[in-house]
Amino acid sequence: MSEKPVGIFDSGLGGLTAVKELLKVLPQENVVYFGDTGRVPYGNRSQKTIKKYAMQDASFLLTQDVKMIIAACGTVSSVAEELGNRLNVPFTGVVKPTAAAAVSATHNGRIGVIGTSATIGSGAYKREIEKIDNRIEVFTQECPLFVPMVESGLTSPKDPIVSLVVERYLSAFEGANIDTLILGCTHYPIIARAISNFMGDRVQLIDSGRETALYAATMLGRGNMLNQSGRRGTSLYYVSDTVENFSNLAGVFLGQSMNHTVTHIDIEQFEE
Ligand code: DGL
Repeated sequence: MSEKPVGIFDSGLGGLTAVKELLKVLPQENVVYFGDTGRVPYGNRSQKTIKKYAMQDASFLLTQDVKMIIAACGTVSSVAEELGNRLNVPFTGVVKPTAAAAVSATHNGRIGVIGTSATIGSGAYKREIEKIDNRIEVFTQECPLFVPMVESGLTSPKDPIVSLVVERYLSAFEGANIDTLILGCTHYPIIARAISNFMGDRVQLIDSGRETALYAATMLGRGNMLNQSGRRGTSLYYVSDTVENFSNLAGVFLGQSMNHTVTHIDIEQFEE
């Protein structure tokens, strides 16, 4: 049992999809969120840079005395797989829980994965799925414009730019006959409607933010680390770029108006 906060980070706003889902199941948890908005996107950077950023993000959260760290970022989870070994608190990324959920969901054994270029290039989701069941066929597609599009507030399925970009990437799955599609980046649930409109109802979408939050909740329970104060928890938000940009869009990701304090930090000063 612990009232210490859960630390969650992402390159930007995407990890808020995991915060939203975590607070749905565990509203009494305190959360410290860091969005590296000054350095987003991560997905088109080198592995070396992504690993450095990931360690700095986690180092900052450790200064906040968190009881657990969630890398709510598909890119970090795919590229910096060893990050958890360097931390002295329980850790999860998004790949393992999301891959497991997709394997349980598929009926025809054909799964699609979309993510950033770094995520798809790492092969992490494919490896994880095949570890669980090597009979499954995995089809992957990188979608490098999705993160900048979402961070710019272009999220409406009615927006012709959104539907055009979605069509451009997802037409790669034509003929693949997938019945399950992993949204392998935590920014993507925000454009789930547009993705679903293109893929059709027959394809189930697996939300990496949601699956990771559910997995983290299980870890907290099993580790006897749940906050049992009986009070609604508080959330603190930290960013590496301007507070205003983050506050304006964060409500869309959290699914509620953003009335929390957002604080700017200099992430470069934290240990790599
Ligand atoms: N939300 C991050 C992810 O899940 C976005 C990565 C990026 O900044 O490119 O991959």
